[in-house]
Amino acid sequence: MDKLIIRGGNRLSGTIPISGAKNSALTLLPCALLTDEPVTLRNLPRLADIDGFQHLMGQFGVAHTIQGSRPDDFGRVVTLEATRLTSTVAPYDLVRRMRASILVLGPLLARAGDATVSLPGGCAIGDRPIDLHLKALEALGARVELAQGYVRAVAPGGGLAGGDFRFPVVSVGATENAVMAAVLAKGVSRLSNAAREPEIVDLCRLLTAMGAQIEGIGSGELVITGVPRLHGATYRVMPDRIEAGSYACAAAITGGSVRLEGADADTMGATIDALRRAGVEVSHDPRGVTVAANEGLRAVDLETAPYPGLATDMQAQLMSLLTQAQGDSVLHETIFENRYMHVPELRRMGAVIETAGRTATVHGPARLVGAEVMATDLRASMSLVIAALAAEGETQVRRIYHLDRGYERLEEKLALAGADIRRENDV
Ligand code: EPZ
Repeated sequence: MDKLIIRGGNRLSGTIPISGAKNSALTLLPCALLTDEPVTLRNLPRLADIDGFQHLMGQFGVAHTIQGSRPDDFGRVVTLEATRLTSTVAPYDLVRRMRASILVLGPLLARAGDATVSLPGGCAIGDRPIDLHLKALEALGARVELAQGYVRAVAPGGGLAGGDFRFPVVSVGATENAVMAAVLAKGVSRLSNAAREPEIVDLCRLLTAMGAQIEGIGSGELVITGVPRLHGATYRVMPDRIEAGSYACAAAITGGSVRLEGADADTMGATIDALRRAGVEVSHDPRGVTVAANEGLRAVDLETAPYPGLATDMQAQLMSLLTQAQGDSVLHETIFENRYMHVPELRRMGAVIETAGRTATVHGPARLVGAEVMATDLRASMSLVIAALAAEGETQVRRIYHLDRGYERLEEKLALAGADIRRENDV
């Protein structure tokens, strides 16, 4: 296991390259199951979760080749080929390590008419049920049963049939599974109250490039006309809006000025709005976003919500930033039931934060002092790194395998911007 050693106090400056979006890549990869032709993804981030997903795809007989990525390249070009599926079972020992594995359920079912996927189980931020995934697939004619910790979905003889489904709760993953199943169903499917995250738009754009017929892309009402087959395609993964937002918070908490090269401001509206309300200067152009915090930070109230609301994946990072703002900031986490795991560790660094259920009140500014802290989940880990950049003295962030799941070469990128940070083996 590794740890990060961070000495706070350096103002970040310069340029940080933004990688391809983890949460887009994790739904683009399984699209390769929907065709027997090659699917090439460009700008694929080098992340543990991406490697894990590619390994899972190998279980089904999917071949993948990594093309021409130089060691200093951020991102990869990977071609996946599901010429013939040799299995439609996603085993527990792979799924338990990466919840996003559930995203093979819809495509396997659509391609092969049969899919057996281990139930992913809960995680640090909540119990993460998959009931909406299953209900949406049943609306497309699938027969679903749960047994021995696995979900088995079977399409009747003729394959999936178009159907209508209204999501009672906006669910990114359930929308993704439903879309990937509906594109090969016989007939028209209407998905209402579907998730509108940019990652869903990326998914719909790849599927369209593969020959799918999808209307309402970017809206909560998707109308999908199934086609008999899809062909291969080459597609570039969108830039990671959460990585970009995370580094924006890192720059701002140090009073620095950083260019987030490749970031797409159009997908970061709520985060940019929150930063600006907190007193951070944010400008952007077609090639990136620039963040500068020249003046003091102001307390702001924030509430997470499905897109285009403020991403729940940005809550922990913004909380760290707001520990340095003048005044009390009230944060309300509406998506997950347990997404304040970073709070006890931030308190150990000196933050003054009260929580009551899904509400957290951050009293600022608080003097942060470096400490040994423990990461618990991906975004909580990043919030500790952000706090460490502004803390007096040295912080050791342990269990950073969480970070390696979602932030490509994090210490290299922060060092590029002048952070005093290094990775060490944690014996
Ligand atoms: C995706 O998770 C992201 N993961 C999460 O990012 C992100 O936090 C989340 O969407 C919300 O934006 C990936 O894309 C791989 P949901 P997902 O289904 O799809 C409830 C990160 O840090 N729900 O939109 O699992 C659920 O409990 C990760 O990168 C059901 O009740 O999230 C939650 O309260 C963390 N039944 C709410 O919906 C279901 O069947 C939203 O969850 C599914 C979800």
